[in-house]
Amino acid sequence: MSHSHRPLTITKLKNMKQEGVPISMLTAYDYPSAKLAEEAGIDLLLVGDSLGNVVLGYETTIPVTLDDMIYHTKAVARGAAGTFIVADMPFMTSRVGVETALRSAARLMQEGGAHAVKMEGGREIADEVAACVRAGIPVMGHIGLTPQSVHQIGGYKVQGKLEQEAERLLEDALALESAGAFAIVLELVTEPIAEKITNRLSIPTIGIGAGRHCDGQVLVFHDLLQYASPYREKRFVKTYADIGTTIRDAIGRYVGDVKQRAFPEQRHAFEAATAAQSKDEAMSLYGAQDGRKTP
Ligand code: KIV
Repeated sequence: MSHSHRPLTITKLKNMKQEGVPISMLTAYDYPSAKLAEEAGIDLLLVGDSLGNVVLGYETTIPVTLDDMIYHTKAVARGAAGTFIVADMPFMTSRVGVETALRSAARLMQEGGAHAVKMEGGREIADEVAACVRAGIPVMGHIGLTPQSVHQIGGYKVQGKLEQEAERLLEDALALESAGAFAIVLELVTEPIAEKITNRLSIPTIGIGAGRHCDGQVLVFHDLLQYASPYREKRFVKTYADIGTTIRDAIGRYVGDVKQRAFPEQRHAFEAATAAQSKDEAMSLYGAQDGRKTP
């Protein structure tokens, strides 16, 4: 288990690509997920607008607002002060002009505590990307399946299967690199086109459902851990633990204990605290049992 105390820099990330060191990225949406991921040695955390699906229960990421993103980014920044944090620009904040993009990105960094922002889209958002980069805001691109455009794309489908599509993806990646993006997420693109893009760019590619040849990989926290993820089965997800089952079972046992009056136990410290002679004695008994410091 490694634990870095200082966040990565975008220069270090580019060096990782040059040196062939794979980059690990994971989404996080709150204090505990960020803290655990940092303790596990993750390189980058992404406060993805996928929080709309996995945390807020929406069907798509479209309803996620800038205020939602700031709220969750703040919690992640508190949980992982030593990790580089990228925050997603939510629906329509990077496509309605440079000024909106600049102001939205500024709020994610200034109020949320992000080190960088991620924008979905290719050459059509090159002006917004370039303006943010000029203003000192690091931008991660995101092409391939871009969930904010799911209704335009017509579903969560693999991108780049047709030659024309593959060519467009490469042009988009090059446009983002020229605009100053420091890395690009490739989501649900075929392995050959992901490899081609990765080889053509000097900035790192981070894949999700894009095969083995990207410079790094990203997964959604709730998918990796089977944490009540609402997504349909995704072929590219590897489950590393099934905490959903663990949590459900534990809550089930708690419910059972309450129903059977098996919790609290008869000799719980609360009883002793009730019988204690003084307030100080009661606080020390209760605090000791509860694992908290006594005042
Ligand atoms: O919102 C998100 O979590 C993402 C990742 C899937 C890359 O954009």
